Amino acid sequence: RIEPLADGFGRVHTDLRVSVTDRCNLRCTYCMPEEGLSWLTRAEVLSDDEIVRLIGIGVDRLGIRTVRLTGGEPLLRHGLPGLVSRIVDIDPALKVSLTTNGIGLKRMAPALADAGLHRVNVSLDTLRRDRYQEITRRNRIDDVFAGLRAAQDAGLSPVKINAVPVRGVNDDEIVDLAEFAVEYGYRMRFIESMPLDAQAAWERDKMITADEIVERLSKRFTLEPVEREDNAPAEEWRVVGTDHLIGVIASVTRAFCGTCDRVRLTADGQLRTCLFATRESDLRSLLRGGSGDADIEAAWRGAVARKGAGHAINSPDFQQPDRPMSAIGG
Ligand code: GTP
Ligand code: 5AD
Ligand code: SF4
Repeated sequence: RIEPLADGFGRVHTDLRVSVTDRCNLRCTYCMPEEGLSWLTRAEVLSDDEIVRLIGIGVDRLGIRTVRLTGGEPLLRHGLPGLVSRIVDIDPALKVSLTTNGIGLKRMAPALADAGLHRVNVSLDTLRRDRYQEITRRNRIDDVFAGLRAAQDAGLSPVKINAVPVRGVNDDEIVDLAEFAVEYGYRMRFIESMPLDAQAAWERDKMITADEIVERLSKRFTLEPVEREDNAPAEEWRVVGTDHLIGVIASVTRAFCGTCDRVRLTADGQLRTCLFATRESDLRSLLRGGSGDADIEAAWRGAVARKGAGHAINSPDFQQPDRPMSAIGG
């Protein structure tokens, strides 16, 4: 019925990640400088009406089936539950989830669940208060713990935890984080760090590879591989004899670009077909210039048709995109 949103490599795109703000209430050292970045103005950021219209085009005309709201920190956007409920109303079959630092969940998880949000992924790189403060430059770890619990209590499950292990910073906590997640019923995932920080300070040697992560986990847990979910970035293992899953996102050492089904919309209405894309398509100008749905659909299809094969992190002439992770939404 709907013509698939396919690129030149035959990949069909059904997943849309929407950044709802570029602002964040943390200042993670691997992500942005202490003083923050130069944030988008309110006028630059898409309004709820604009976001709902674009997602509607994605769902009704392009076959988008899953939407993930990201940031910056998405919970900083005013009226987020209202936006979620409008997105959910586009199509009852749409799955809507959120990636957050978790700080605002204690306050907002019930309203988000009531609005129809399906799940949340929470970023947490350490269990130690002092280290959390060093990594994020803010003393908010108790809010994250409270947020995790609130999300679980609100039924936003499975609640997944994302951690980026960095050598010499928090890589000694890989097993502790996994034990914490297993104990409390969260799904732990470890992510290879990617060169997407605002300060271009990524160093390959500081990245902990998926193989290393699994090796360390295997000293504590007996793991069996689980069949990968369709087009999911995470490879997952089950702790044998339990239903606990632990995942690894090997974006660098085992890139999954060949099965990528994702497109991204930035908070200022630019369509990105890859985290590492060097070009964006300006859907906001079309929206604000009075374009009809068919024109926006055509621009969107055209952008996806030009999508590249994948990232080139492992190539010697790799160049980081201009837009940092926090302004793309991960
Ligand atoms: P689930 O639906 O729960 O599996 O969500 P997700 O893992 O796709 O989303 P999340 O926002 O939790 O992302 C976790 C990590 O995966 C982030 O750090 C991203 O950097 C990475 N990631 C997500 N999508 C992509 C992608 O398309 N390419 C690459 N290279 N990394 C991605
Ligand atoms: N490489 C990989 N993952 C990153 N994240 C933030 N910066 C990076 C990076 N450079 C993670 C966050 C969050 C998710 C959206 O992206 O920890 O969980
Ligand atoms: Fe898709 Fe680009 Fe991520 Fe590869 S790096 S999986 S192509 S978004």
